[in-house]
Amino acid sequence: MAQAPSLPGTTDKQLASLLTLLAENATIVVSGGRIAREIGVSRSTVWRWVQRLRELGVRVKGQTATGYFLEMVPDILTPDLLRKRVKGKLFGKRFYHFFKTDSTNRVAMELAYAGESEGAVILAEEQSAGRGRAGRKWHSEVGAGIYVTLLLRPPLSPVQAPLLTMLAGLSLHAAILGQTGLNTELKWPNDILLNDKKIGGILTEMHAEPSQVRFVIVGIGINVNQEKFPPELCSIATSLRNETGRAQSRLELLVRLLREFETDYNRFLREGPAYVVERFMAISPFASGKRVRVDTGRESYAGVTAGLSPEGLLLVKKDGGAIVTVIAGDVTEIR
Ligand code: BTN
Repeated sequence: MAQAPSLPGTTDKQLASLLTLLAENATIVVSGGRIAREIGVSRSTVWRWVQRLRELGVRVKGQTATGYFLEMVPDILTPDLLRKRVKGKLFGKRFYHFFKTDSTNRVAMELAYAGESEGAVILAEEQSAGRGRAGRKWHSEVGAGIYVTLLLRPPLSPVQAPLLTMLAGLSLHAAILGQTGLNTELKWPNDILLNDKKIGGILTEMHAEPSQVRFVIVGIGINVNQEKFPPELCSIATSLRNETGRAQSRLELLVRLLREFETDYNRFLREGPAYVVERFMAISPFASGKRVRVDTGRESYAGVTAGLSPEGLLLVKKDGGAIVTVIAGDVTEIR
């Protein structure tokens, strides 16, 4: 299987192998000599890497003389661990993992322009400049959330690309439901909410010719194990841990998301936009009958949501009576 090429800043493959070896033998002491042999490095390198993992918060016990073991299996999204779970799938072949990067969307853009193939998955444990919609920042606390970007090269026209944002929302809804039993609410076009607070968001960016998409990158941020948020987000954000009362496996959730997205993506390409639009309408109580305010930047008006157009754009019946199509802008519910 083709391995993803290394990119500056991506997690060293041998460091990731050390983590996998320890994770697969969790709570068993593995001698420094065995680790050195299996990974193909010297015992002193093993020692240095163990230090590095400890700096990154991985709880490795022991020392070279006695051997090493993991006190707790870390919930780190390394390619080795993921590849075993999503083997042979579109999103199971090319992983780029960073302990820290600025933005997985930014990295994905760079890879896409350089010719990286469809299905690449870019992941970070932490982002220093996570991007949100409308130029906002996405809070990306280390190890607490999932920060992932998928690279697609779909045979679509640019007007159909926003459907991929909605598709990602549907996949995330199913993944969260499968793992936690929680029924998230989808708010057009890119918000995933629980109890009126944001649990996930999607930022889709693309490069296209007038009639054909060259590539689309779908960036997904999920609040999984955050216990607290910065003061400015406290009233608008929540996490799966806060909502379920216990820590959730990020690895498990990501595996579910990748599997769901792959199935949904293939169905969308086979069946067309109606597959996405109808499912979104069925799941999202927000898409019809909700009193909203729309801010486009140029104008602001109130109305009632009136379903989605065949291309997945929101229809709003203005107070004056006319039905308008919302192409971009902020839509907030009026209570
Ligand atoms: C939103 O504003 O709701 C969209 C948030 C999208 C955040 C994700 S985190 C992974 C990917 N990389 C980024 O820089 N942004 C997206």
